[in-house]
Amino acid sequence: MARSALSFPGYVTALGFLTLLLLLLPLRSIAGRHDYHDALRKSILFFEGQRSGKLPPDQRVRWRRNSALHDGATAGVDLTGGYYDAGDNIKFGFPMAFTTTMLSWSVIDFGRTMGPELRNAVRAVKWGTDYLLKATAVPDVVYVQVGDAYSDHNCWERPEDMDTLRTVYKIDRAHPGSDVAGETAAALAAASIVFRSRDPSYSRLLLNRAVRVFEFADRHRGAYSSSLHSAVCPFYCDVNGYQDELLWAAVWLHKASRRREYREYIAKNEVILRAGDTINEFGWDNKHAGINVLISKEVLRGRADYFKSFQQNADGFICSLLPGISHPQVQYSPGGLIFKAGGSNMQHVTSLSFLLLAYSNYLSHANKIVPCGETSASSALLKRLAKRQVDYILGDNPLGMSYMVGYGARYPQRIHHRASSLPSVGAHPVHIGCKAGSRYFLSPNPNPNQLVGAVVGGPNSSDAFPDSRPFFQESEPTTYINAPLVGLLAFFSYHP
Ligand SMILES: *[C@@H]1O[C@H](CO)[C@@H](O)[C@H](O)[C@H]1NC(C)=O
Repeated sequence: MARSALSFPGYVTALGFLTLLLLLLPLRSIAGRHDYHDALRKSILFFEGQRSGKLPPDQRVRWRRNSALHDGATAGVDLTGGYYDAGDNIKFGFPMAFTTTMLSWSVIDFGRTMGPELRNAVRAVKWGTDYLLKATAVPDVVYVQVGDAYSDHNCWERPEDMDTLRTVYKIDRAHPGSDVAGETAAALAAASIVFRSRDPSYSRLLLNRAVRVFEFADRHRGAYSSSLHSAVCPFYCDVNGYQDELLWAAVWLHKASRRREYREYIAKNEVILRAGDTINEFGWDNKHAGINVLISKEVLRGRADYFKSFQQNADGFICSLLPGISHPQVQYSPGGLIFKAGGSNMQHVTSLSFLLLAYSNYLSHANKIVPCGETSASSALLKRLAKRQVDYILGDNPLGMSYMVGYGARYPQRIHHRASSLPSVGAHPVHIGCKAGSRYFLSPNPNPNQLVGAVVGGPNSSDAFPDSRPFFQESEPTTYINAPLVGLLAFFSYHP
């Protein structure tokens, strides 16, 4: 069903209003305020636990050690570093780039409220961009994955012990991948803003590289899911097409460079955002709602009236998230959590909440509200909705459970994560082979290493959570769950 941005059901039923009110009430009125700053610190610390490559002397997650020190060698290039995406030991370039983009957006919009954690957040961005620079060092080539997902998933091994296939996958002119190249360009451009005043020469390097990678992505069009199908699907298969990543990259390049050519590119390609049932989505595969919200910042500042249609789309997206408006794409669990089908639900919770909060800030600066049919949504309402989601994650939910490891009194103990669930190299220096790890995977015991700050996939649509390793959709953390959460926690630590 084609669904234009403005075709949301423009009414709120009486029952809907009641639901909306209930969702905004704190679940337990005695629930104390959360320590958002503590959660912020932990949400950033998590990225150190996901590091691949040679760890620096100031590494704080000490149970992790160097790993994958020969990544790239089979292709004659240096691809060490970067992040493991989740509970396995693969470096998937597509979600890694999206993670880096969202960490950058978190710093750009909310860095002011991070206090002493700003430094750590910037370092988390740089761990991503240092790798993306290596992956894009050769013109018209992007290395998009290290590790064979089948070989890796067949084993339960520490990254430090890895003896699985570290196959190197790339896109080039003959095997294009405008989706992953577009996202990589977006990440480099967004990060160039983060480093603009902190490290101007690094910032220029990032921006120049973003320009070159975008040109490659745009000139040699195609989906990496076609070029590299068996390697990337079904893991990070781009089912949503690559047009959104091209536009997303152009928007970040426009923001970072202010060059007229990107404004023209956006205007010319705007039409691709007009229709389709995926316009109100946002995640590693789909950038539509993010594009609309990001451009709206300029429109709401009165600097880009020619992009007014993007703001109308953003308004429609925001309306689709309001509890009480029945919308086929977004549901709420009985306990009040945003829920979308497909597993690893927390990725939707954090990325959609991030957009609610970012848009709320852009609206309040412009003194505007969102018209939603018969009703409307104020900037303050959007903030409350985003905060309600963050509070659910931190423990205001029917199980009274925090979904962030190491935060609060009760949190997941058996996350689906190889490094966390196997004994550390320090505690058990002897190699643990591929299948020897199975007994740790199957053990009912808590994980020996706490991956502090990791937010897991979360409860099912009935607010139930198994806390069990084999239930990976619920118990696996990912970098792109945490990246938008960093921005949310920064804001609420300053405006509790
Ligand atoms: C959620 O999980 C609980 C406990 O495993 C189960 O009873 C319930 O049916 C699940 N809900 C859905 C919608 O799958």
